[in-house]
Amino acid sequence: MASSSSTASRRSTFLVLFVFFSLCVSTASSTNLTGNRFIVEMDQSTIPQTSGARRSVGFDVHKEFNMDGVFVGASLTLENAKDIHALSNAQGVKAVRPALKVTRPNPITRPISGNFSLGVESTHVMTGVDKLHDQGLTGKGIKIGIIDTGVDYTHPALGGGFGPGFKIAGGYDFVGDAYDGEYKLFAPPSGTHVTGIVGADPSNPYNISGVAYNSTLSMYRIFGCAGDTTDDIIVEALLRGVDDGQDILSLSIGDSTDGWTEGTASVVVSRISSMGITVTVAAGNDGPSGAWYSSSPGNAVDAISVASVDNTMIFIHNATVQGAEHDPIPYYSLASFFFEGPMPIYATSNDTTVQDDACNALPDDTPDLSPYVVIVRRGTCDFPVKQANIMEKGAQAVLFYDNGTDFDFIDIGNNSASIIRAEDGEFLVKEFVAGTPIDLVFPQEPDGVTPWPTATGGLVSTFSSYGPSNDFFFKPSIAAPGGNIMSTFPVNMGSYIVASGTSMATPYLAGSLALLMQLKGHSIVGMDARTLFEATSKVIPTSKDDGAPLHTVTQQGAGLINVYDALYVTTSISPGELILNDTAHFREAHPITIQNNGDSARDYTVSHSPAATALTIDPDTGLPAPGPVPQSTAYANVSFSQTSFTLSPGEVHTITAQFTPPAGADPLSYPVYSGFIQISTGTEQLHVSYMGLAAALLDKQTLDNSSVVLTSNSQNSGQDVQARAVTDAHNYTFIGDDYPSMQFRQGLMFGTPLVRIDLVNSNFSLSTLPPTVSRRQDSGSAAAVPILGPVYQFTYLARNDNLTNPFYFVNFTAPLFSDGTQIPNGMYRYLMRTLRVTGNPNNEEDYDEYLSPAVGFNAPANATAA
Ligand SMILES: *[C@@H]1O[C@H](CO)[C@@H](O)[C@H](O)[C@H]1NC(C)=O
Ligand SMILES: *[C@@H]1O[C@H](CO)[C@@H](O)[C@H](O)[C@H]1NC(C)=O
Ligand SMILES: *[C@@H]1O[C@H](CO)[C@@H](O)[C@H](O)[C@H]1NC(C)=O
Ligand SMILES: *[C@@H]1O[C@H](CO)[C@@H](O)[C@H](O)[C@H]1NC(C)=O
Ligand SMILES: *[C@@H]1O[C@H](CO)[C@@H](O)[C@H](O)[C@H]1NC(C)=O
Ligand SMILES: *[C@@H]1O[C@H](CO)[C@@H](O)[C@H](O)[C@H]1NC(C)=O
Ligand SMILES: *[C@@H]1O[C@H](CO)[C@@H](O)[C@H](O)[C@H]1NC(C)=O
Ligand SMILES: *[C@@H]1O[C@H](CO)[C@@H](O)[C@H](O)[C@H]1NC(C)=O
Ligand SMILES: *[C@@H]1O[C@H](CO)[C@@H](O)[C@H](O)[C@H]1NC(C)=O
Ligand SMILES: *[C@@H]1O[C@H](CO)[C@@H](O)[C@H](O)[C@H]1NC(C)=O
Ligand SMILES: *[C@@H]1O[C@H](CO)[C@@H](O)[C@H](O)[C@H]1NC(C)=O
Repeated sequence: MASSSSTASRRSTFLVLFVFFSLCVSTASSTNLTGNRFIVEMDQSTIPQTSGARRSVGFDVHKEFNMDGVFVGASLTLENAKDIHALSNAQGVKAVRPALKVTRPNPITRPISGNFSLGVESTHVMTGVDKLHDQGLTGKGIKIGIIDTGVDYTHPALGGGFGPGFKIAGGYDFVGDAYDGEYKLFAPPSGTHVTGIVGADPSNPYNISGVAYNSTLSMYRIFGCAGDTTDDIIVEALLRGVDDGQDILSLSIGDSTDGWTEGTASVVVSRISSMGITVTVAAGNDGPSGAWYSSSPGNAVDAISVASVDNTMIFIHNATVQGAEHDPIPYYSLASFFFEGPMPIYATSNDTTVQDDACNALPDDTPDLSPYVVIVRRGTCDFPVKQANIMEKGAQAVLFYDNGTDFDFIDIGNNSASIIRAEDGEFLVKEFVAGTPIDLVFPQEPDGVTPWPTATGGLVSTFSSYGPSNDFFFKPSIAAPGGNIMSTFPVNMGSYIVASGTSMATPYLAGSLALLMQLKGHSIVGMDARTLFEATSKVIPTSKDDGAPLHTVTQQGAGLINVYDALYVTTSISPGELILNDTAHFREAHPITIQNNGDSARDYTVSHSPAATALTIDPDTGLPAPGPVPQSTAYANVSFSQTSFTLSPGEVHTITAQFTPPAGADPLSYPVYSGFIQISTGTEQLHVSYMGLAAALLDKQTLDNSSVVLTSNSQNSGQDVQARAVTDAHNYTFIGDDYPSMQFRQGLMFGTPLVRIDLVNSNFSLSTLPPTVSRRQDSGSAAAVPILGPVYQFTYLARNDNLTNPFYFVNFTAPLFSDGTQIPNGMYRYLMRTLRVTGNPNNEEDYDEYLSPAVGFNAPANATAA
């Protein structure tokens, strides 16, 4: 389709709006580098005209955006991704960014049943929100827009209705289903959980309350299925929220782990924030993937990217022991065990160190297990495997005991199986071996569960994503309760549930911001609100052991929000974050401004609390260390221009902090050091959080050229990627599947701002690369350099990651240069270059290179039609 037909496709904008095929596909395990979908930012709202392009550019417009001062542009699909260059140079075009696919961080959900009253709001105790509720601060009059999967507004704790006058007063469905009675049946349930964290009325049987339960909520629904959405839908929802006059916008999305601050939604979030609307975004649940893996749009320079902290309490029931002296045995469940007992016990192994207990069929001489509570050790195989083997012998009731210390809060999935602590399981097995006749009783407690302090309560959740961004911005910003959170769930799915994720932490902060706004009006919004919450948060240790170092800022941000202090502190400090940058751009001196807003003179002291240094890269492989990221106690040194001073009421004072990066941290581990500058009076404690890199980003190799393979699709489909390498020159016809394809597994070891793939002669050797980057101009004027021409170019790519993005594909489906000109038949190589972070795109030395095996082109004249 040529540009002349763009008017026709513009007319179909509204049709296209409802037909996003990409919405319902499951998360891909690898990424195609052939996306044609872009978001164009323009000077004014005109569809771009591609003047001066060699060929006319064909595209379909999906959405147009027109909010002056925030975002003017359109999302579109190019007929041919190669036209990106012409589009970028078209008149009126300010920026062209790929439309990122954004996945919802999957919460870990735990179904609950039964009827109980918790009588404790542990998350509110963690943050001081309990005290604010007691004062009547509940968000009245504050408008919060939630951008999520939809909500079951029929839920009695969520107001039971939709529209003006209801708790859920407004919103918009961007993905298809109308707001009607059927709506909730299609909506994935997690938006209901998120909404309850902000807004659940306290008058519910479970005694939970939303952080800002008197605020006015709107739901902007951007997920059609359980799957993905795209940047342009997020932008549309953000702009709609601004239009509707929301005070706060909350996005529990962000598994687009691009690690860059440059995506369109990120850019728009920053602009909205600078208008005074505070935006909270989930940091992501990619903790296991290690550092440098922050998510968009939380990557926005001015977003509040929210990390997760585990709830201090979980919910257990007790089993009582008969036949021996032993304390009641807590089992993790929200409902009482199905059997009341007393029931005798049977151990499937007499060895309390057994690794694979009940992973195989039980021995033939195993008795009928139906009368027993079977005691099984955790480990090696999954619980369902063990349970199936036990049930083969008639068992009905099973207690798994943990294989470490204490216990994990694992929902086994029904109330005839549960998990108990390692120590309790070991006790039971020893008594069984000794022949003690033990019985267990499971008191039925329809109205009660016991809150139980967790070993990890108050610590950073292991699933919470690590920053910083690839360009070394301070991500995540801050942490809020997000691990083991009880909240509302669609009525037809049980009404309440415990779930975990940064998706749960994000609305918690949004609600907290509403309490601030209720008390202070619009005086502290956007970045000022972020700074205030960062300055007053509570720093989090790596563990609960005495003297444990503080946890790396790359995962906790500025610490756990302390909402009560944020609202009532009478000192303000700024900035909230100090970015010391890498060794090549090290900024050693930072001013910190302190203001006494109290009504009496106060003495201040300044001190340094270092956090552990994150060893982000495995020095042996150059690959990011998986989470939990190793941490060391090689700390930075800080000196201050002053360590104590007195400020009279209203007085403002600036001190300087002078940093020295840690000595002795291996630069090949790309150590990110961090910590806190504490500013204290007798009654108030605030801090500024800092982060620096004791290595140079330019030194970090981006491309592992040993794992790039070139292949023909037809030859090798179905085989292991590593086995697909083309060892013999092959002449590609570009007919059907017979085209060259590059795949790099774990090939991008680090994010890169620019990937260039050029065609070179087959006799090309890397040693002939000139010191400056060769570019074949459209005019051909640079013919003297050995680059024949560019084939593909990509910007701001995320690194590969075994868990979420193991490899990229690039398929060269037609013998064309990126400007659309035909590549003559012959023998060539592909030269791929990835720019290192902070590198100069014009400096050849700042790239990592890969030169492909020789590739033959033998395309019939008609192959260009592809
Ligand atoms: C790559 O894109 C093609 C065409 O859009 C699609 O069919 C395929 O499933 C994608 N592959 C992956 C791994 O995403
Ligand atoms: C819980 O039990 C009480 C009585 O014990 C009852 O009044 C209440 O309706 C029950 N709640 C639910 C949600 O079943
Ligand atoms: C706040 O919400 C609660 C629970 O719905 C309600 O009882 C109360 O009247 C509301 N308060 C105000 C000031 O609107
Ligand atoms: C459950 O047992 C633990 C000790 O194992 C005890 O601390 C707790 O109070 C008990 N809870 C109830 C409700 O009995
Ligand atoms: C316990 O078992 C789980 C599941 O097999 C395993 O991942 C974990 O490493 C084990 N922990 C210990 C301390 O053995
Ligand atoms: C385990 O201990 C019980 C009770 O002492 C005993 O009957 C059984 O034979 C033991 N099993 C094995 C495999 O040693
Ligand atoms: C690091 O320093 C460079 C050079 O001054 C600057 O361009 C870049 O923005 C800095 N990075 C951050 C995250 O501040
Ligand atoms: C690229 O090729 C791979 C197989 O090598 C295939 O799975 C993928 O779908 C192709 N991508 C596109 C966009 O055609
Ligand atoms: C590819 O084609 C060239 C001629 O264009 C020929 O010299 C060469 O032998 C062919 N290679 C293979 C592997 O067929
Ligand atoms: C990623 O997977 C590859 C291949 O399975 C393995 O060799 C490598 O060690 C893994 N890397 C990490 C960081 O887990
Ligand atoms: C191109 O030409 C070849 C043989 O000349 C023929 O087999 C093939 O179908 C043609 N392909 C197209 C797309 O027209």
